[in-house]
Amino acid sequence: MNLSFTHRFVPATAPSRPPLLLLHGTGGDETDLLPLGQMIAPGAALLSPRGKVIENGMPRFFRRFAEGVFDEEDVRLRATELADFIAEARQAYGLAAPVAVGFSNGANIAAAVLMLRPEALAGAALLRAMVPLSEPPTADLAGKRVLVLSGAMDPIIPAENAGRLAAMLKGAGAEVEHQVLPLGHQLSQMDVTLTQRWVTDAG
Ligand code: MLT
Repeated sequence: MNLSFTHRFVPATAPSRPPLLLLHGTGGDETDLLPLGQMIAPGAALLSPRGKVIENGMPRFFRRFAEGVFDEEDVRLRATELADFIAEARQAYGLAAPVAVGFSNGANIAAAVLMLRPEALAGAALLRAMVPLSEPPTADLAGKRVLVLSGAMDPIIPAENAGRLAAMLKGAGAEVEHQVLPLGHQLSQMDVTLTQRWVTDAG
């Protein structure tokens, strides 16, 4: 279907599971995280958009001035645009509010959507995320589950920054589980296992 983001949609075969919104990292696309989605929530509907910002030919979900230095005006604009796409896709495909599963840049935009448009998401698994907005509005995240998985040896995301993000989300009322894994920036089987368990625990 032609919606406001280029995307892939995989319908549910287990409709009782919440749909997943899959958000790729820098240089990825809408096909990247489909296998991950299938592993962590078999049978769930999968909605996977491609980021609209192009940096040296690589798709992303918002602009940055340098690695880890974000164009926050663009973060706000793009998070709003993505929340609008979620609403559009929910209507088009008849979906409940999705749980975001984002990696790196995709996790950062998911965190921004939680802060700016909390109604768009049922919860989020943020894999290698950092604080996307230095002065976010006060969001009410009561009832939302958030999993933050960071890497102790991540060269891109300082541990302190991921901890600050988890604290911000908790402060806004979300039920946050933050784990620091003995890993770098890349995902591993440990991320898959923990995210699968977290998604399943939601019932
Ligand atoms: C970002 O730009 O969102 C972060 O630096 C992570 C990434 O490299 O994409």
